[in-house]
Amino acid sequence: MNGAGYLIAVTGPALQSRQIQLVLVGSKFAIEVGIVVSSYLLEGGQRLQGEIRISGSKNAALPVLAATALLEGSYRIENVPLIDDIRTLLDILRSLGAKVEFLPEGTVLIDSSTINNCTAISEQVGKLRGSYYLLGALLGRFGEVQLRLPGGCNFGSRPIDLHLKGLRQLGAEIVEEECIVSCRCNRLTGGNIFLDIVSVGATVNMMLAATRAKGTTTIYNAAREPHIVDLANFLNAMGASIQGAGTDIIRIRGRAVLRPVGSYAIIPDQIEAGTYLAMAALTAGDITLQNVIPSHLDALIAKLREMGVSFEIGEEEVRALRAPDTILTATNFVTAPYPGFPTDLQPQMTVLLTQATGKGKVTENVWNNRFQYIPDLKQLGARIVAQGRSAFVTGPVQLTGSRVAAYDLRAGASMVMAGLVSSGTTEISHIELIERGYENFVAKMSQLGATIIRREEPLADVTEIDFVS
Ligand code: UD1
Repeated sequence: MNGAGYLIAVTGPALQSRQIQLVLVGSKFAIEVGIVVSSYLLEGGQRLQGEIRISGSKNAALPVLAATALLEGSYRIENVPLIDDIRTLLDILRSLGAKVEFLPEGTVLIDSSTINNCTAISEQVGKLRGSYYLLGALLGRFGEVQLRLPGGCNFGSRPIDLHLKGLRQLGAEIVEEECIVSCRCNRLTGGNIFLDIVSVGATVNMMLAATRAKGTTTIYNAAREPHIVDLANFLNAMGASIQGAGTDIIRIRGRAVLRPVGSYAIIPDQIEAGTYLAMAALTAGDITLQNVIPSHLDALIAKLREMGVSFEIGEEEVRALRAPDTILTATNFVTAPYPGFPTDLQPQMTVLLTQATGKGKVTENVWNNRFQYIPDLKQLGARIVAQGRSAFVTGPVQLTGSRVAAYDLRAGASMVMAGLVSSGTTEISHIELIERGYENFVAKMSQLGATIIRREEPLADVTEIDFVS
């Protein structure tokens, strides 16, 4: 049997459908093929204290980096978080022909003049949601693009119908075949686009495509997220004419001539910042965040204040503190597009409610399946009843450490939070999902006093492997 080859699929949320070639050598086959599973081990009970610097925003960096494909030239993008989703997008840009260099301290140099290919259909493209920004960027520049449908976190149906409808309205001919979308146009022509649902991604794609279209495009019911404004600032620095970003009506006057932006810095990540603020509240901690735009955190700060957390807010820093004798009070919140409460902080807040006195209600109004982490939280001892789009959380309860999984990026962060207030050790698997979006996560957590280690083990558990051929 030694040396025999098998095609296998490994099950589990993060590894689903991944096919690998397994070479059996004695019983050490997993080591032979180098499959490593990573997890965090966390000791609960620490009060998080100290100061950390927040990284650049993932959700702003993805559209800005994609936007460099819209116009040939050299770009220096600063404050880019070195996380897996960004690495993947940069690899895709490289595969299209761009020259990409990642310098220390979050600076990326991109030369997009060498892009000579409008086809991005590798498996890698399906790995992240943000790859679909190449639709608007490449269509705007070359009049054609072929893209694999995007992936990203799995929290419900994530269609792109609004993107395609909008691009068709601008004059693109689109063919959808299984998981590949092909778009083509002679020249895009501006028009009125009404988004049926407020969509960050669709707003970004319309802005990218309309920047090089002929005439004026108006996007009604546009997303108002800070990263929409960041992208508009970047495109305007290229000579685009975008007005109204940050409101629900964005007007883009198409420009035939643009110039590449020499240097641009991405805004700080409000979701990363929000996660650490929620941790300060959770652990009766005292955390100061540097490199933040406090107004982006208004919805969260208002809720945390209601629950009993104190804040000191500076120009670019926020300090959250909760004295150990301050009891957290339960509250209700509803997720909504910006400036509403961000869906990307919903799982973290649910964990916080497990430590608050009373019954809190969480309503998820953006995604239709974003409570997948609740069974794991209940396994740690949380008292939660999920009903449709709402979850009712009764607290406070003492959680008990156990083995749990990161179901998606933010749900993963919420599992780490649960571990912080659990007795004993919590083991969190599938942490690659967390590392898609949190830069230097273990280092930052350790700096704040958390007892967390990242463990890597060869996958050696035969029972986790299904033979498919
Ligand atoms: C972005 C963020 C994600 C965040 C979400 C909502 C990135 C890379 N991701 O995702 O972290 O959770 O905003 O703040 O920036 N919809 C449609 N048709 C479409 C597009 C969207 O029906 O064509 C629906 C979705 O199913 C969802 C809602 O609109 O219910 C919002 O989605 P959208 O804002 O597009 O989210 P993303 O841009 O994918």
